[in-house]
This record gives sequence, C-alpha cells and structure tokens, in this order.
Amino acid sequence: MSVMSMEVVAWNQMYRTMNTSAQQTRFSAVTARRIVDFARPHRGKLLVFVVFSVVLAVLAVATPVLAGRVVNAIVDGDSFDVVLRLSLLIAVIAVVDAAFGLLNRWLSSNIGEALILDLRTAVFDHVQRMPIAFFTRTRTGALVSRLNNDVIGAQRAFSDTLSGVVSNLVTLVLTLVVMIGISWQITLLALILLPVFVLPARRMGTRLARLQREAAGHNSAMSTQMTERFSAPGATLVKLFGQPAVESAEFAVRAARVRDIGVRSAMVQTVFVTALTLVSALALAVVYGLGGFYALRGQLDPGSVVALSLLLTRLYSPLTQLASARVEIMSAIVSFERVFEVLDLVPLIEDAPDAVSVPDGPVAVELSDVHFAYPSADKVSLASLEEVATLDSRGGVDVLHGVSFRAEPGQMVALVGTSGAGKSTIAQLIARLYDVDSGAVRLGEKDVRGLTAESIRGAVGMVTQDGHLFHDTVRANIVLPRPDATDDEVWEALSRARLRDLVTSLPDGLETVVGERGYRLSGGERQRLTIARLLIAQPRVVILDEATASLDSTSEAAVQAALGEALKGKTSVVIAHRLSTVRAADVILVVEAGTIVERGTHEELLAAGGRYEELHRTQFSVTPESAAQAAGAGTTVAGSLSAAAASIGVNPSIA
Ligand SMILES: Nc1ncnc2c1ncn2[C@@H]1O[C@H](COP(=O)(O)OP(=O)(O)OP(=O)(O)O)[C@@H](O)[C@H]1O
Ligand SMILES: [Mg+2]
Repeated sequence: MSVMSMEVVAWNQMYRTMNTSAQQTRFSAVTARRIVDFARPHRGKLLVFVVFSVVLAVLAVATPVLAGRVVNAIVDGDSFDVVLRLSLLIAVIAVVDAAFGLLNRWLSSNIGEALILDLRTAVFDHVQRMPIAFFTRTRTGALVSRLNNDVIGAQRAFSDTLSGVVSNLVTLVLTLVVMIGISWQITLLALILLPVFVLPARRMGTRLARLQREAAGHNSAMSTQMTERFSAPGATLVKLFGQPAVESAEFAVRAARVRDIGVRSAMVQTVFVTALTLVSALALAVVYGLGGFYALRGQLDPGSVVALSLLLTRLYSPLTQLASARVEIMSAIVSFERVFEVLDLVPLIEDAPDAVSVPDGPVAVELSDVHFAYPSADKVSLASLEEVATLDSRGGVDVLHGVSFRAEPGQMVALVGTSGAGKSTIAQLIARLYDVDSGAVRLGEKDVRGLTAESIRGAVGMVTQDGHLFHDTVRANIVLPRPDATDDEVWEALSRARLRDLVTSLPDGLETVVGERGYRLSGGERQRLTIARLLIAQPRVVILDEATASLDSTSEAAVQAALGEALKGKTSVVIAHRLSTVRAADVILVVEAGTIVERGTHEELLAAGGRYEELHRTQFSVTPESAAQAAGAGTTVAGSLSAAAASIGVNPSIA
C-alpha cells in the first residue's frame, strides 16, 4: 500500500470515528436498556429510594405552606398558641427532612458504588478473556482509564443524577400543584421566564457532553503515556534512546488540553447556573410585585404571598438541577458507552460449548497443515484503545504456510531456523494463544479448539522468549501455576533451575520482590526463574522458547540437564538458536519463512548437508578443522556469538 493511500485510509478512519462519536451524543435506546439491565439487581434499593424521594419532596412543600400560615396568624392576630404549634411543626419537619435526606444519600451512594463494582468486575473479567492478540494491540493505559474514569463517570448517573432527577421531578410537580392552588395567575406569570433557559439548556448539555468525551480521550492518552513510559523497560528505553524533553512536552500538551477543557466546561456550567439564578430572582420580583398588588386589593392573604415566594425558590432549584441533570446524564451515557464498548469486544478464543479436557496421560502434539496469519486490528481490538491502530494495516498476512509435524508422547521436537521464521508463532498456537486459520493443532489427538482453556493451561507449560515476572515476590512468581506448592517444592525447583544459591543469598529469600517485570534480576536469573515456574507447573507438554538463551554456556548446560531430568517422559517442543541445546532432540525441524524445510535427527540433518548443516557449520566452526572439536565440546564463545548474529538476522557467515 502506498503512503498516499495509507493516509487516505487513516483520514477515512478518523472521519468515521468522529462521526460515530457525533451519533453517540444522541441517547440510544439500546444503551438505555443495557443501563437498566445493570441497575436491575439493585431495584429493591432503588424503589425505597424513590419512595424516600417522594417523602422528601412532600416535606419540602410543607414548610413554605406552614410559613404562610404563620404570617397569616400574625396578621390575623391569632393567639401565640397557634404560632407555636406551627413553628414546632416546622421544626419537626426539618428534623424528619434531615433524617430522610441522610438515609437517601446513604441509599444512593450504596447503589452507585455497587454499580461501580458491577461494572468494574464485568470489564475486568471480560478483558481477561480477551485473546493475546488484543493485548498486543491495546494500550494498557487506555484500558486502565476505562476501568477507572469511565466507570466512575457511568456510576455518577445513578448515585447523583438519577437521585436528583427523581426527587426533583417529584418536588417540581408537587410545588407547581400547590402554587397553582394558591394563585394560578401568579404561578403562570412567574413561569413565563422559564423557556428562556430551558431551551438553551439543551444545547448546553450537548456541548458539555462533547467536552466531556474529549476530556476522557485526553485523560486516557495521559495514562497511556504514563503506564508505558513509567514501566522499568520503558523508562530504561527513554533514558537510553528517548527524548525526555519531548516526552514531557507531549505530556504537558495533553495535560494542558485537559485543563482547557476543565475551564471551558466549568464556565459553560457556571454561565448556565448564573442565568438560572438570575431568572429565578426576576421571577421572585414578579411574585412580590403581583402578589403584593393582589394582597393590597384584598384578593390574596399576606401568608399566601410569603408561601408563593418560598415555593418559587423551591421550584427553580429543582428546575436548575433537572436542566443540568440532562448534561450529567449525557456525560454519564458517554461513560457507559465507553465501558460497553469494551464489554462488546468479542473474545476470539473461547471455550466451545461442548469443550472437553485434554485427555489424561502423556499427550502427543500435532500440527497438521497449519496456515496462520496474525489477526488484523479490526478483528481483535478497538481503535480507541490502540490510539494509532487505525494506521496499522499489518496482520492478515500468512506467517505460517502449511506447517505439519507431530511430537509423539514423551518425544522432544526442536524448532530451529532464522529469526522471524515463525517458531514462536508455532509455540503460541500449541498453547492456543491464537487459533489457526486452516489446518489444526491437536493435543492428544484432540483439536485444541474443542478443549477447555483451563485444561490446556494445566497440560501445556511454556517458557516464553521474553519470560515475564510480576512485580511480586520470588515465591509468588514461581507458584503462579500452582499456588498450593510447598516450600520444599519451591526450593527443589529453584535448585534444579540453578537458582538456589542466588535466592538463599537474597536478604528476604523467597519473599524478595523481583521488581517491575523482574528488572531487579539479571536477564539470566529472570530466565531461570521462569524455568523454576515451569518446573512447579509440571505440565505434560513443555514448550521452551529460547528458554536458556540468556545463560552462559556452563549454566545453560546445567539447566538443560536439570530440565532434561525433570521433563523426562514429557512431550516437549524446544526452540533454540544455539544448536548445541537441541542435539538430543528426537526430531529437529528447520523452519524457514513459515514452512518446515527440513526434518530429521541431528545426525541425519548433518549428513543431508542442507540448511541445518549450514547453520551448524556457521555456529560451530571458526575453521573447518575445529568444527568437530567444537561440536563435541558444546558451545564455544565464537559459536554463541555467531548464534547471536543469526538471531538478529545478520548473515552469520560474515561474523
Ligand atoms: N503479534 C504479531 N502480530 C503480527 N505479526 C507478528 C506478531 N508476532 C510475530 N509476528 C510476525 O510473524 C513472523 C514470525 O514471528 P515469530 O515470532 O514466530 O518468529 P521466530 O521464528 O520466533 O523468530 P525469533 O527467532 O526471532 O524469535 C515475523 O515476521 C513476525 O514479525
Ligand atoms: Mg521467537
């Protein structure tokens, strides 16, 4: 694809994204239904809440009416008894009002927080089910932001807005009824100013929602940058090759945009509230003027004027809140939609409804005519979580073209070949981190697509090329596959992985924290830790992807021996650049450009004089005479160096 057309694609994508967000401004019935679904488990509390809100609204109307009675009692010259009784009643109402107010707040925050919990766990569970392809594309920060900011935004719809809407609506209707009962003329006049702000309120709401969505985008961009740059590897990279000043500037730009939006939405809101306050003050003037006029003519008693004016302030306040509730609901819906967007991602790899477990006993591994391409962005992820994904046209190109091989139970199959040939891809297919496009991967004669993920996890153990450790203790990292492993087992695994001495020498032993991604350990120590983890897992199928590549030759030989011992009788697939590690394999497969070009034992392949023999020659011979010697003695320094050269794609014959 040319640069030009790539740009066109990018613009089209961006245009589409912008358009969909414009559409999302409208309240979608589907979203509403889903929100209701989420609220359903809390309907009991919601009902109590609504009842309380009605009680509160009735109380709110009662006080102004009683105040009017007091004024009338004074004007009519009634006994103090009447005034006292009325004021006591007002006091009781105030106390009851406070109590119900507290209860209601308790209820609404309860419902709101419970909703946060529901949404969060739903998102977490769902994201955990996503295939690896999703994580290779998604920006962690953007995801975390969905879990934090957007979930809270969505919750606000319930705890604040919904409660506001219910009680305000009830208050509004009751107040209006009472006011009209006292004087419909004054009520009508006082409300004439109403449309002046109800109409702009709609526009204001849309604008605020847009600002909100923009802010959410920037917030997510900020946390994306932070999670990526503030990880140990990210920070190292920035220190070595990055431009901290540029990074800071970029961050500052994003943060500044959030600030600008914050100021703008605060201003929009303030202008709105000020306008409302003004209108209600003007309406109050109307009540005093017109009410005074009627009272002077004896058509209205003074108490009614007081009651009306008090009621009016109670009328405009729910109106104000209802108008801004629209805004809040809109932004809450934006948040809901951003959360639902994640929940709607279809996990590509899921247990089939009739999935069975991996058969018991030793397991054969088989790939038959496997074709595979890494899934393209639109299949696995969300553009808004990738940030740059819309530009990515990669994926969809076959990485494996008709790969077939079989590892009988207990056999060791080795994969060798140049970098990028597809070895790690094959390994990931066996563990069903991806699904094949055609052909099949079988474990114990069963297609992996018909097996449960849990049983595959239990049967297949893999040490990946970039062995990962959690920021946790040595023990926690090792017992990950089997949390109930005893200390003895852990120490046993550590000594097999040649790590016992190191861990013993650490001040906190097994409880030593390994640091972000294990960065407080050396590369080789990290790798041996992942091997110890594999030994604890005791899988029936073992996949080693360059598992001992970062060890020196002596430790490598030792760890290999330990692995060989521990993995006896287990089916294994071993990937290695250093051919010395795979000599003992039952079958060696030479993978080149996504196909298997040669297969056989070490001796057969050497005798065949093909690609393997060539790889072997460049790795082990500095001069032809030393070839036999080096091959016999294991890896030499020169051998490892040329292996390293081969692994980064340098023509080893030059090295
Ligand atoms: N997640 C991915 N998405 C798209 N393409 C990928 C992905 N991972 C790997 N590839 C591509 O697939 C091809 C095979 O990669 P693979 O990791 O299987 O190679 P390898 O044989 O393990 O190489 P190495 O020896 O360097 O580890 C490469 O061209 C690589 O760029
Ligand atoms: Mg690899």
